[in-house]
Amino acid sequence: MTENKKKFFITSPLYYVNDVPHIGSAYTTIACDCLARYKRLKGLDVCFLTGTDEHGQKIFKAACENNKDTQEHCDFISEEFKKLWQMLNIKYDRFSRTTSKKHQAIVQEFYKRMFNKGDIYESNYEGLYCEACEDFKQEKDLTDKLCPVHKQKVQEYKEKNYFFALSKYEERLSDYLEKNPDFIQPLFRKNEVLGWIKEGLKDFPISRQHVKWGIPVPNDPSQTIYVWVDALVGYLSGLLTDNEEATIKNVLKSYWTPEVHIIGKDILRFHCVYWPCMLMSAEIPLPKIVFGHGFLTKDGQKMGKTLGNVIDPYELIKEFGTDAVRYYFLREITFGKDGDWTRESFISRINSDLANNLGNLLNRTLNLINKNFSGTVENLSQENFLKLKEKTTLTIKQYENCMDKIKLKEALDVVFELIDNTNKAFNDNQPWKLIKNSESQKAKCCLYETLEILRNVCIMVTPFIPEISLKIYNQLGYDKMTFTSGWEELGWGKLKEGFNVKEGKPVFPRLEKVN
Ligand code: MSP
Repeated sequence: MTENKKKFFITSPLYYVNDVPHIGSAYTTIACDCLARYKRLKGLDVCFLTGTDEHGQKIFKAACENNKDTQEHCDFISEEFKKLWQMLNIKYDRFSRTTSKKHQAIVQEFYKRMFNKGDIYESNYEGLYCEACEDFKQEKDLTDKLCPVHKQKVQEYKEKNYFFALSKYEERLSDYLEKNPDFIQPLFRKNEVLGWIKEGLKDFPISRQHVKWGIPVPNDPSQTIYVWVDALVGYLSGLLTDNEEATIKNVLKSYWTPEVHIIGKDILRFHCVYWPCMLMSAEIPLPKIVFGHGFLTKDGQKMGKTLGNVIDPYELIKEFGTDAVRYYFLREITFGKDGDWTRESFISRINSDLANNLGNLLNRTLNLINKNFSGTVENLSQENFLKLKEKTTLTIKQYENCMDKIKLKEALDVVFELIDNTNKAFNDNQPWKLIKNSESQKAKCCLYETLEILRNVCIMVTPFIPEISLKIYNQLGYDKMTFTSGWEELGWGKLKEGFNVKEGKPVFPRLEKVN
């Protein structure tokens, strides 16, 4: 019964549709999906929202360059995101699109709330703007007069706009950060935000005069709403189901507020300064956590569409498979820090962890059980033959602790340490020799306990590598993986009685080091 379950609302950013998705956008979404799956495994009522950010000059231009009608262009690229999410086994619950009708209604209602609060006023703006960031810049932000993120020339612009009175919320935001020390994560990102507040929060334009591809300002259709204000409200509008009337009241009835917004570090200011203040103005509860992860880099530079140094996610999946891609990025890079991509590290990581450590252990165990014990061994686990009972219990605790703190790499580290220990204990005890020497009682203990560890490992890695995990589960003799009750099955000694393992087939093939 969903009503009784604790709710968990998680969001990815809404991706720009100026181009097809690249591995950077996939990275954020894989991490969100992993967390969402983990929370489902624990039995929570999860809502994972992703989507596309479809307004603004950058997207209008991209459509023109492709000789397409702007809406058609948005529809096409938005679909490309959905296709990639399917290929990556991303199970989202809501897909928010900022060109939808319901979104427009919610943005306008949101704007009116801020207006009625007295937080919007008319003034002249004169300054610099980076179209790739869709952000206002100051001279001091630039490197050689270029936007440091996109290495692009910024534009100078001067126009009459509607401004949001951000400065009014400076103190309240400081208070909020103080009272909610976990709001910005990882903790080292918090200093950056505190630095911005210390410099003083300045009111900023929330409308544009010459950007036509956007949502009209209520009562002044000559202006459109600034794309970032428009996009952030997509977290609200995207929650509405098809048959709900588009009102903020309805939005607040379901999953709001987000337990966590997962974003990249480049969009921290929008989420940790603008967004909370906008929400305070509109009198809507604030998200609990904003987690800013690092960049995927290639040769030390941020991978991105604008820089043109991206890895094609479709090619990567086609060559290595969905789970390998999911696994690599979450295991190899500390979530929160930058990480450089190399083909060599990809292949060696996958081979050593998935093909060798995990895959071989499973294969060897099943082969011995099938060959010598007709597919089943009795429950003799009380023996603690491998001396890994306590280690397994501890690993489950550590895993849970890491996952709850969004330490995804560290969660995999502890699980794979357990696998390493098990491989070592397996090799030290040589069950094949025990069988040969007619010490079948000992051999059974060794095999049963290895299976028991593999079963626990299989549950813990489900959020990361769901396909492989299901294969392992099946080979262990279970029919289907249940995402809602999986958590209760974790723990020592819960391997079902009278099980029959299946034939051991490699769950992940070794990769060749070819270019
Ligand atoms: N549309 C805005 C987000 C609005 S949310 C209300 C946007 N879109 S984006 O498509 O440019 O980027 C979306 C996310 O992808 C950001 O979190 C960004 O950090 C992430 N990434 C883009 N390139 C990346 C890498 N090279 N590495 C890791 N993440 C990257 O910003």
